[in-house]
Amino acid sequence: MSASLARPRVGVWLIGARGSVATTVVTGCAAITAGLHPPTGMVTETPAFTDSALPALSGLVFGGHDTLDCPLPKRAETLTASGVLPPGIATAVAAELAATDREIRPGGPTPGDTRTEAELITAFADDMTDFIRRHELERAVVVNVASTEPASQGPGAPLPVSTLYALAALRAGCPYVNFTPSEGMHHPVAAREAERSGLPYAGRDGKTGQTLLRAVLGPMFAQRALTVRAWSGTNLLGGGDGAALADPAAAAAKNAGKERVLSDTLGTVPEGEVHIDEVPALGDWKTAWDHIAFDGFLGTRMILQTIWQGCDSALAAPLVLDLARLTARAHEAGLTGPLGELGFYFKDPVGAGPAALGEQYAALTGFAERLAAANPDAPAPRPGPDEETR
Ligand SMILES: NC(=O)c1ccc[n+]([C@@H]2O[C@H](COP(=O)([O-])OP(=O)(O)OC[C@H]3O[C@@H](n4cnc5c(N)ncnc54)[C@H](O)[C@@H]3O)[C@@H](O)[C@H]2O)c1
Repeated sequence: MSASLARPRVGVWLIGARGSVATTVVTGCAAITAGLHPPTGMVTETPAFTDSALPALSGLVFGGHDTLDCPLPKRAETLTASGVLPPGIATAVAAELAATDREIRPGGPTPGDTRTEAELITAFADDMTDFIRRHELERAVVVNVASTEPASQGPGAPLPVSTLYALAALRAGCPYVNFTPSEGMHHPVAAREAERSGLPYAGRDGKTGQTLLRAVLGPMFAQRALTVRAWSGTNLLGGGDGAALADPAAAAAKNAGKERVLSDTLGTVPEGEVHIDEVPALGDWKTAWDHIAFDGFLGTRMILQTIWQGCDSALAAPLVLDLARLTARAHEAGLTGPLGELGFYFKDPVGAGPAALGEQYAALTGFAERLAAANPDAPAPRPGPDEETR
């Protein structure tokens, strides 16, 4: 653990706080803090970050919004039964789960909700500021881990709900992370407000499985001067994410990020598509199959196939914790705007940055050094509580 143990408490406000990823984040943070498990998968717990003055895991306080009302301890029980959480952990951290459950506020809009966009933004922002005030937090990071939305309808359409939450985060003076493919801060209205607010933000869509492999293999083909002719992929998954992605419009938002990694690393768009099939029996366990047809010397035709079998929430949770810590620290250090150096974590990163995983890791460790060099007491810009966001 880093030397940041005594540092002040930082809030993590999860949009989609009762989902699989959020429940695994809260359970995992409590289990690691209690010494029940090592921080496997958390890049911020490796030596490269020791001097970055990141908030301690023991100092993170969780809350959030959700449109469901299933209690968090119950969600953790279900995740234990399906093998996502190891036996005994949810019981061991029952007090922390119950404490977070008390900090989850109703999200929106729920069916029949008559509130306007402006009213929803105000309600969400009020919940966030109330959380910060009651817990006397130094700051809070808003992290979107809610169900994936269908792709935006374009100009003139109602603002996506993820964008209402992003605007609420800005209104509350909170840095923001979008772990989903939903539009969030990518919407032009929010992007403009983010620029005015001077708050740091990161996104979008966590890179945890198939796309992580693509960010490694794409550069390999390019660097070895092998010609990729076609790259096809299929994903089988269940759980809430599988159900949301059964909607072709939601899957389109996800697949755009997966394909972007290939065009950015190969420099061309190979033939082939990505499909996502919902298989409820698999729950949180995802199988991702990639089939890559490539040409070698003298045009010799070859094939690489990969099969990734991962547990989605166990892959995502350590990254969410990393991102919350890094973004909170970036805010403390006075960094503003899109945090392109966090592209290592995302399928469709904000800002400018490399697409190959190795280069993204180098950018991330450079960021760690930048945070280490920044004065932890430097004042960070925050908008006033009444600043208009629309
Ligand atoms: N490896 C991964 O797990 C991974 C990787 C990249 C991205 N993601 C993204 O993370 C998100 C969460 O995944 P999950 O498996 O936890 O899904 P999930 O279905 O278990 O959880 C989503 C939660 O969002 C809530 N929600 C829906 N609409 C809401 C609203 N308007 N306001 C507040 N809450 C709302 C739902 O009630 C649910 O509790 C998805 O968008 C997914 O695409 C996950």
